[in-house]
Amino acid sequence: MTVRELQDKILKLKKETDTCILAHSYMSEEICETADFTGDSYALAVKAKGVKQKNVIMCGVRFMAETVKMLSPEKRVVLSNPVAGCPMAEQMDKGMILQVKAQYPDYAVVAYVNTTAELKTIADVCVTSSSAVKICRAIPQKNILFIPDINLGTYVKEQVPEKNFKLLSGGCPTHAKISEREALAAKAAHPGALFLVHPECRPEVVKHADYVGSTTGIMEFAARSQAKEFIIGTENAIVQHLQFAHPEKAFYSLSKDLICSNMKATTLADVFRCLTGEGGEEIIMDEATRLAAVKCIEEMMKYGG
Ligand code: 13P
Ligand code: SF4
Repeated sequence: MTVRELQDKILKLKKETDTCILAHSYMSEEICETADFTGDSYALAVKAKGVKQKNVIMCGVRFMAETVKMLSPEKRVVLSNPVAGCPMAEQMDKGMILQVKAQYPDYAVVAYVNTTAELKTIADVCVTSSSAVKICRAIPQKNILFIPDINLGTYVKEQVPEKNFKLLSGGCPTHAKISEREALAAKAAHPGALFLVHPECRPEVVKHADYVGSTTGIMEFAARSQAKEFIIGTENAIVQHLQFAHPEKAFYSLSKDLICSNMKATTLADVFRCLTGEGGEEIIMDEATRLAAVKCIEEMMKYGG
């Protein structure tokens, strides 16, 4: 079977089974082409609220599927490939954060959406890479315990100097492995290119950026810009999407190592198997956890706009 034939089968099954496919922008081109909606984690969360279909397949990682389930408990939500987790989301658990919270009782817990449902139950508000600065500025609390990503937290702290931040040392193993030396080498190799970076990268990489933003932010910036060349400092799927969308521009990867094996776990065949009921994993969440965890997602939408 060709890719096109498999995509056609997916499109047909999707209609027959009343299923919506949501795909994070790190998914492959062939998966994104079958999706009803693609975007960054914030956009996917907002979209998840208004999905009409009774079934949702989330092509992304586990915390994204959990977010959909929290917002649409009446729907059957399936994670496209059960092994696709986000290592950052597993770095800190509820017990550990409760201990830190006890030391900083007057700090609001601001949790990156890349966290487990269990950890979200004790967060005051959730943020994503595209909404973190806006939300940290907007919430009434002056003191913020930002979990788990120290790189995103450092970036937000610089942008929101009027607040006090306590950061912990979690982070994305994919983005955090990129060094300043690699950033400088990429800029030297492409001196005319603008450097667009995800805030999960280290501060010494981010400081060389012409633009810092989420996956959608990077894609929108590259689309609007008059520049012709760009170095892309996030997962390499974005380089490919941008090159398809703007063949007249050139996109270079910051590093061949910018590959998230969890995001890469989902294949087009997995999407097909979810639709035939033979693959994927239905997200099951107990109602007490859901009710406690969804509050910080709702706060995120309130302050994130
Ligand atoms: P976005 O918020 O840009 O979608 O990022 C999610 C993510 O996991 C990045 O590594
Ligand atoms: Fe998690 Fe990093 Fe992969 Fe994003 S790129 S899903 S933060 S491991």
